[in-house]
Amino acid sequence: MIRARKAVERLQKYHPPLEGRAGLLRLDFNENTVGCPPAVVRAFRRAITPDWCARYPEYEEGKAILARYFGVSTEEMLFTNGVDDAIKLICDTFVEPGDVLAIPSPTFPIYQFFHELAGGKTRLIHYDENLRFPVKKFLAAIGRRARWVALANPNNPTGTLIPKSDLKLILESLPNTLVLVDEAYYDFSGLTILSWIRKYPNLMVSRTFSKAFGLAGLRTGFLFTNTRIAEMMKRAHAAFAVNAAALACSLEAIRHEEHVRRYGRMVVRNRERFCKKLESMGIPYAPTAANFVLTRVGPRAHEIAMRLRKQGILVRDWSYDPHLKGYLRMTIGTQSQMRRLTEELERLRHLMETRDGSSAWRDLMTYSPTGWFA
Ligand SMILES: Cc1ncc(COP(=O)(O)O)c(C=O)c1O
Repeated sequence: MIRARKAVERLQKYHPPLEGRAGLLRLDFNENTVGCPPAVVRAFRRAITPDWCARYPEYEEGKAILARYFGVSTEEMLFTNGVDDAIKLICDTFVEPGDVLAIPSPTFPIYQFFHELAGGKTRLIHYDENLRFPVKKFLAAIGRRARWVALANPNNPTGTLIPKSDLKLILESLPNTLVLVDEAYYDFSGLTILSWIRKYPNLMVSRTFSKAFGLAGLRTGFLFTNTRIAEMMKRAHAAFAVNAAALACSLEAIRHEEHVRRYGRMVVRNRERFCKKLESMGIPYAPTAANFVLTRVGPRAHEIAMRLRKQGILVRDWSYDPHLKGYLRMTIGTQSQMRRLTEELERLRHLMETRDGSSAWRDLMTYSPTGWFA
């Protein structure tokens, strides 16, 4: 009988609930809720000819433009099929069976997924009850054993930000451990350590065009690191990992940066308004620097998510995670989208376990990360 590798047989299936979302208000996957700049679609239509479709993509010129946009050299950048591909590439390049990945929990599940697919073991370090990044606990728990560390900053699903001082401490305390700082939500947090790739030989930083840029369907990601690490990773990368459409649209998207920045500023404004609304409704939430908010609505979270879905609004139910029972994550969109969500939440309030702000969550509500776009 033909069998998969043991690491594959051991894997838990990851099934993001991604079907049947067209036409609904998509506040479940932290995407851009209005779409990419229209000029990107026009550029795509212009590019798509039979000859263009027939040819394998040519990257060199485009990569040089993208690297300049990020302020790095092409030798310091990997152009990937979304950040997911960058994460897989880290595992393909560096992870031997039995190697340890250390991650805070909860976090983006794909780090663990690809690491365990490569035969690695995962060390989870749980956030404290206030969802602050437990830097000392993190360092003490992993010692020097971890092959790599993945830190989404801001973190998904909590939205919380790790301060630069903690990142510095981690990078300096673990000189022989690779540290991925995943800045997928940078366009909403404004906090970056991208320039540190020249200072710390163990640092990798990732970015995506799936969020503020509105190109999730095209799959465009970037990994930045020093030339030595990048060179090793390029050896392991598929020659044509990114398709020609993703490249053409990415090049057009960066020509409309102001559109993306405007979107980022709008999200930040609506995030503040929405958080105030949650406070007035007594719904606890985690302090967020991303384009989503993790809320705690109580034991009927699943039912609330289903009822919202019936009204055409998708939010992400995190109850499958034993540490996040009762939590829903909601993406921030436009003012009218948030109004729609808020009205439905008001209607469903009787199903929620609301608070008067006297618990530890009050602390959460007042903690404000630094480095946001104003
Ligand atoms: C922290 C984080 N990193 C990476 C990704 C995926 O990025 P991409 O669409 O570029 O694969 C996500 C998507 O939700 C995310 O939350």
